[in-house]
Amino acid sequence: MGIIKIEKAGKNFSLGKTIIHALKGVSLEIGKGEFMAIVGPSGSGKSTLLNLIGCIERPSSGTVMIDGTDIGSLSPDELAEIRSSRLGFIFQSFNLLPVLTVAENVEYPLHLGGGEKRTRAEKVAGVLKEVGLERFSSHKPAELSGGQRQRVAIARALVGSPSIILADEPTANLDHRTGEEILNLMKDINRKMGATFVFSTHDPKIMNIADRMVELRDGEITFDHVS
Ligand SMILES: Nc1ncnc2c1ncn2[C@@H]1O[C@H](COP(=O)(O)OP(=O)(O)O)[C@@H](O)[C@H]1O
Ligand SMILES: [Mg+2]
Repeated sequence: MGIIKIEKAGKNFSLGKTIIHALKGVSLEIGKGEFMAIVGPSGSGKSTLLNLIGCIERPSSGTVMIDGTDIGSLSPDELAEIRSSRLGFIFQSFNLLPVLTVAENVEYPLHLGGGEKRTRAEKVAGVLKEVGLERFSSHKPAELSGGQRQRVAIARALVGSPSIILADEPTANLDHRTGEEILNLMKDINRKMGATFVFSTHDPKIMNIADRMVELRDGEITFDHVS
Protein backbone atom coordinates (compact mmCIF):
# COMPACT_ATOMS: atom_id res chain seq x y z
CA MET A 1 0.00 0.00 0.00
CA GLY A 2 1.12 3.56 -0.72
CA ILE A 3 2.73 5.68 1.96
CA ILE A 4 0.31 8.40 0.79
CA LYS A 5 -3.21 7.46 -0.24
CA ILE A 6 -5.70 10.09 -1.30
CA GLU A 7 -9.26 9.11 -2.12
CA LYS A 8 -11.70 11.50 -3.78
CA ALA A 9 -10.24 14.43 -1.88
CA GLY A 10 -11.97 17.76 -2.36
CA LYS A 11 -10.90 21.11 -0.96
CA ASN A 12 -13.08 24.20 -1.02
CA PHE A 13 -12.24 27.72 0.06
CA SER A 14 -14.87 30.36 0.60
CA LEU A 15 -13.96 33.75 -0.73
CA GLY A 16 -16.71 36.12 0.37
CA LYS A 17 -19.89 34.61 -1.05
CA THR A 18 -18.20 32.43 -3.67
CA ILE A 19 -16.85 28.97 -3.02
CA ILE A 20 -13.64 28.03 -4.79
CA HIS A 21 -13.28 24.34 -5.59
CA ALA A 22 -9.49 24.11 -5.42
CA LEU A 23 -9.50 20.30 -5.61
CA LYS A 24 -12.33 18.24 -7.03
CA GLY A 25 -12.29 14.60 -6.01
CA VAL A 26 -8.61 13.85 -6.45
CA SER A 27 -7.51 10.21 -6.00
CA LEU A 28 -3.83 9.40 -5.90
CA GLU A 29 -1.63 6.73 -4.37
CA ILE A 30 2.08 7.42 -3.89
CA GLY A 31 4.45 4.57 -3.04
CA LYS A 32 7.32 4.65 -0.57
CA GLY A 33 10.48 6.01 -2.20
CA GLU A 34 8.77 7.62 -5.20
CA PHE A 35 10.20 10.82 -6.71
CA MET A 36 7.09 12.50 -8.04
CA ALA A 37 6.37 15.83 -9.71
CA ILE A 38 3.03 17.63 -9.64
CA VAL A 39 2.69 19.90 -12.64
CA GLY A 40 -0.02 22.21 -13.93
CA PRO A 41 -0.74 25.89 -14.52
CA SER A 42 -0.90 28.45 -11.75
CA GLY A 43 -4.14 28.05 -9.78
CA SER A 44 -4.61 24.38 -10.74
CA GLY A 45 -4.39 23.17 -7.12
CA LYS A 46 -0.75 22.08 -6.76
CA SER A 47 -0.11 23.89 -3.47
CA THR A 48 -3.48 22.83 -2.10
CA LEU A 49 -2.67 19.18 -2.83
CA LEU A 50 0.78 19.50 -1.21
CA ASN A 51 -0.82 21.16 1.83
CA LEU A 52 -3.23 18.23 2.23
CA ILE A 53 -0.37 15.72 2.03
CA GLY A 54 1.62 17.91 4.41
CA CYS A 55 -1.15 17.88 7.05
CA ILE A 56 -1.26 21.68 6.82
CA GLU A 57 -4.89 21.55 5.70
CA ARG A 58 -7.60 18.95 5.99
CA PRO A 59 -9.73 17.93 2.99
CA SER A 60 -13.32 19.29 2.70
CA SER A 61 -14.38 15.85 1.43
CA GLY A 62 -12.75 12.48 0.81
CA THR A 63 -9.76 11.10 2.68
CA VAL A 64 -6.02 11.65 2.90
CA MET A 65 -4.05 8.82 4.52
CA ILE A 66 -0.42 9.16 5.53
CA ASP A 67 1.20 5.84 6.48
CA GLY A 68 -2.24 4.35 7.01
CA THR A 69 -3.51 7.18 9.24
CA ASP A 70 -6.56 9.15 8.07
CA ILE A 71 -5.50 12.76 8.70
CA GLY A 72 -9.11 13.94 8.67
CA SER A 73 -9.64 12.20 12.00
CA LEU A 74 -6.72 13.85 13.80
CA SER A 75 -6.67 16.80 16.21
CA PRO A 76 -4.47 19.83 15.48
CA ASP A 77 -1.89 18.50 17.99
CA GLU A 78 -1.82 15.10 16.33
CA LEU A 79 -1.41 16.75 12.90
CA ALA A 80 1.50 18.78 14.27
CA GLU A 81 3.09 15.59 15.58
CA ILE A 82 2.85 13.91 12.14
CA ARG A 83 4.30 17.04 10.52
CA SER A 84 7.31 17.12 12.81
CA SER A 85 8.03 13.39 12.90
CA ARG A 86 7.33 12.21 9.35
CA LEU A 87 7.35 15.19 7.01
CA GLY A 88 9.96 17.61 5.70
CA PHE A 89 9.08 20.81 3.85
CA ILE A 90 10.94 22.81 1.20
CA PHE A 91 9.49 26.10 -0.05
CA GLN A 92 9.85 28.28 -3.12
CA SER A 93 11.23 31.22 -1.12
CA PHE A 94 13.50 29.05 1.09
CA ASN A 95 11.94 30.44 4.33
CA LEU A 96 15.20 30.68 6.24
CA LEU A 97 15.43 32.83 9.36
CA PRO A 98 17.85 35.66 8.49
CA VAL A 99 19.20 36.18 12.02
CA LEU A 100 20.17 32.52 12.46
CA THR A 101 23.28 30.88 11.02
CA VAL A 102 23.04 28.06 8.50
CA ALA A 103 23.55 25.46 11.26
CA GLU A 104 20.94 27.12 13.52
CA ASN A 105 18.41 27.23 10.68
CA VAL A 106 18.93 23.53 10.01
CA GLU A 107 18.72 22.67 13.72
CA TYR A 108 15.51 24.65 14.19
CA PRO A 109 12.96 21.83 13.60
CA LEU A 110 14.81 19.59 16.08
CA HIS A 111 13.95 21.98 18.91
CA LEU A 112 10.31 20.97 18.50
CA GLY A 113 11.17 17.35 19.29
CA GLY A 114 13.71 17.94 22.10
CA GLY A 115 16.76 15.66 22.20
CA GLU A 116 20.32 16.24 23.36
CA LYS A 117 22.38 19.20 22.16
CA ARG A 118 25.27 16.99 21.05
CA THR A 119 23.04 14.59 19.11
CA ARG A 120 21.36 17.58 17.47
CA ALA A 121 24.73 19.04 16.43
CA GLU A 122 25.76 15.69 14.92
CA LYS A 123 22.53 15.46 12.93
CA VAL A 124 22.98 19.03 11.66
CA ALA A 125 26.59 18.35 10.61
CA GLY A 126 25.48 15.15 8.85
CA VAL A 127 22.78 16.77 6.72
CA LEU A 128 24.93 19.83 5.92
CA LYS A 129 27.55 17.44 4.58
CA GLU A 130 24.85 15.69 2.56
CA VAL A 131 23.97 18.95 0.76
CA GLY A 132 27.62 20.02 0.40
CA LEU A 133 27.51 22.97 2.79
CA GLU A 134 29.61 21.76 5.73
CA ARG A 135 31.97 24.72 5.31
CA PHE A 136 29.14 27.25 5.52
CA SER A 137 27.61 26.28 8.86
CA SER A 138 28.35 29.59 10.60
CA HIS A 139 27.34 31.81 7.68
CA LYS A 140 24.09 33.77 7.62
CA PRO A 141 21.59 33.14 4.78
CA ALA A 142 22.22 36.62 3.30
CA GLU A 143 25.82 35.59 2.58
CA LEU A 144 24.71 32.67 0.38
CA SER A 145 23.52 32.34 -3.22
CA GLY A 146 19.95 31.25 -4.00
CA GLY A 147 21.06 27.70 -4.76
CA GLN A 148 23.00 27.50 -1.50
CA ARG A 149 19.99 28.82 0.43
CA GLN A 150 17.81 26.14 -1.08
CA ARG A 151 20.44 23.56 -0.05
CA VAL A 152 20.15 24.85 3.53
CA ALA A 153 16.39 24.43 3.28
CA ILE A 154 16.86 20.86 1.99
CA ALA A 155 19.16 20.11 4.95
CA ARG A 156 16.54 21.55 7.31
CA ALA A 157 13.87 19.35 5.71
CA LEU A 158 16.09 16.26 6.13
CA VAL A 159 17.33 16.79 9.67
CA GLY A 160 14.42 15.03 11.39
CA SER A 161 14.78 11.95 9.11
CA PRO A 162 11.30 12.30 7.61
CA SER A 163 9.86 9.57 5.41
CA ILE A 164 8.16 12.12 3.12
CA ILE A 165 9.64 15.36 1.77
CA LEU A 166 7.31 17.90 0.16
CA ALA A 167 8.57 20.76 -1.96
CA ASP A 168 6.31 23.47 -3.37
CA GLU A 169 7.99 24.89 -6.51
CA PRO A 170 11.47 24.54 -4.97
CA THR A 171 13.18 25.81 -8.12
CA ALA A 172 10.89 28.73 -8.98
CA ASN A 173 13.27 31.36 -7.58
CA LEU A 174 16.39 29.84 -9.14
CA ASP A 175 17.88 30.06 -12.63
CA HIS A 176 17.35 26.97 -14.75
CA ARG A 177 20.79 25.44 -14.17
CA THR A 178 20.70 25.92 -10.41
CA GLY A 179 17.16 24.55 -10.36
CA GLU A 180 18.36 21.44 -12.16
CA GLU A 181 21.20 21.04 -9.63
CA ILE A 182 18.74 21.32 -6.74
CA LEU A 183 16.41 18.73 -8.27
CA ASN A 184 19.34 16.39 -8.92
CA LEU A 185 20.45 16.78 -5.30
CA MET A 186 16.91 15.92 -4.16
CA LYS A 187 16.98 12.89 -6.42
CA ASP A 188 20.35 11.72 -4.99
CA ILE A 189 18.94 12.00 -1.48
CA ASN A 190 15.84 10.11 -2.59
CA ARG A 191 17.98 7.26 -3.94
CA LYS A 192 20.36 7.20 -0.98
CA MET A 193 17.89 7.54 1.88
CA GLY A 194 14.76 6.11 0.29
CA ALA A 195 12.65 9.09 1.38
CA THR A 196 9.55 9.78 -0.72
CA PHE A 197 9.65 13.12 -2.55
CA VAL A 198 6.64 14.99 -3.87
CA PHE A 199 7.33 18.34 -5.50
CA SER A 200 5.52 20.82 -7.72
CA THR A 201 7.12 22.63 -10.63
CA HIS A 202 6.26 24.28 -13.88
CA ASP A 203 9.68 24.14 -15.46
CA PRO A 204 9.18 21.63 -18.32
CA LYS A 205 12.88 20.66 -18.43
CA ILE A 206 12.96 19.88 -14.73
CA MET A 207 9.89 17.68 -14.95
CA ASN A 208 12.03 15.09 -16.79
CA ILE A 209 14.05 14.42 -13.64
CA ALA A 210 10.93 13.01 -11.98
CA ASP A 211 10.11 9.28 -12.01
CA ARG A 212 6.42 10.09 -12.11
CA MET A 213 4.50 13.14 -13.23
CA VAL A 214 0.96 13.98 -12.23
CA GLU A 215 -0.74 16.89 -13.96
CA LEU A 216 -3.47 18.96 -12.33
CA ARG A 217 -5.87 21.20 -14.19
CA ASP A 218 -8.62 23.09 -12.49
CA GLY A 219 -8.42 20.90 -9.39
CA GLU A 220 -8.50 17.58 -11.24
CA ILE A 221 -5.84 15.07 -12.26
CA THR A 222 -5.61 15.08 -16.06
CA PHE A 223 -2.44 13.03 -16.53
CA ASP A 224 -0.46 10.51 -14.46
CA HIS A 225 2.66 9.13 -16.09
CA VAL A 226 5.39 6.88 -14.69
CA SER A 227 8.66 7.07 -16.64
N1 LIG B 1 -6.52 29.98 1.35
C1 LIG B 1 -7.20 30.15 0.22
N2 LIG B 1 -8.33 30.90 0.19
C2 LIG B 1 -9.04 31.05 -0.94
N3 LIG B 1 -8.70 30.51 -2.12
C3 LIG B 1 -7.60 29.77 -2.16
C4 LIG B 1 -6.77 29.54 -1.01
N4 LIG B 1 -5.74 28.76 -1.36
C5 LIG B 1 -5.89 28.50 -2.69
N5 LIG B 1 -7.00 29.10 -3.16
C6 LIG B 1 -7.51 29.00 -4.56
O1 LIG B 1 -7.53 27.63 -4.92
C7 LIG B 1 -7.10 27.45 -6.27
C8 LIG B 1 -5.88 26.54 -6.30
O2 LIG B 1 -4.77 27.24 -5.71
P1 LIG B 1 -3.34 26.62 -5.49
O3 LIG B 1 -3.47 25.29 -4.87
O4 LIG B 1 -2.53 27.63 -4.77
O5 LIG B 1 -2.82 26.44 -7.00
P2 LIG B 1 -1.34 26.32 -7.57
O6 LIG B 1 -0.42 25.99 -6.44
O7 LIG B 1 -1.41 25.24 -8.62
O8 LIG B 1 -1.02 27.65 -8.19
C9 LIG B 1 -6.86 28.85 -6.81
O9 LIG B 1 -8.02 29.28 -7.47
C10 LIG B 1 -6.59 29.67 -5.56
O10 LIG B 1 -6.92 31.01 -5.77
MG1 LIG C 1 1.25 26.99 -5.74
